[in-house]
Amino acid sequence: MKNLQIPRPPIKVLFVCLGNICRSPMAEAVFAHLVKEANLADRFEIDSAGTGDYHIGETAHHGTLEILREKRIPYNGRARQINAANLDYYDYIITMDDANFEDVNAIGKGRAEVRPLLSFAPAQGLTEVPDPYYHGGFDKVFEMVHEACEGLLEHIHKSTFVENKLS
Ligand code: 4NP
Repeated sequence: MKNLQIPRPPIKVLFVCLGNICRSPMAEAVFAHLVKEANLADRFEIDSAGTGDYHIGETAHHGTLEILREKRIPYNGRARQINAANLDYYDYIITMDDANFEDVNAIGKGRAEVRPLLSFAPAQGLTEVPDPYYHGGFDKVFEMVHEACEGLLEHIHKSTFVENKLS
């Protein structure tokens, strides 16, 4: 038998908050960084979006960029708004707070599994990532997001392993 290679489609993950300038870009950058560290960059397609349209085209908030720079995590995305097609395109849509979760589900129903980010960090004892746009505290939000992104990667690894018997 020939040495067969069957390409696998990437696992597509979209992080969603309200403005797409504070929390979801941070989660996108952190998750992409973890995936790269695990040598899995070619297995994932990762993006973020806002439910609102206030900041379309803008760079991330300086508080998000500053903490990412401090942690040596690259990010150069621009804000965009989620659209209905995203609900079928992505495998996972990961929301930051209850309003994001409800707004995404109100757009429609698709193939994507819609889950709150902090459901992957139960030890945090919180269901919503606080919005540093209003209250600051980008460093605390970073720690929360980082722990939850580790949980998310572990969750995806486990489900992919079970479904495909792949390591
Ligand atoms: P984010 O924070 O949803 O984490 O990006 C916000 C950014 C902007 C606004 C609200 C929240 N805003 O109202 O402009």
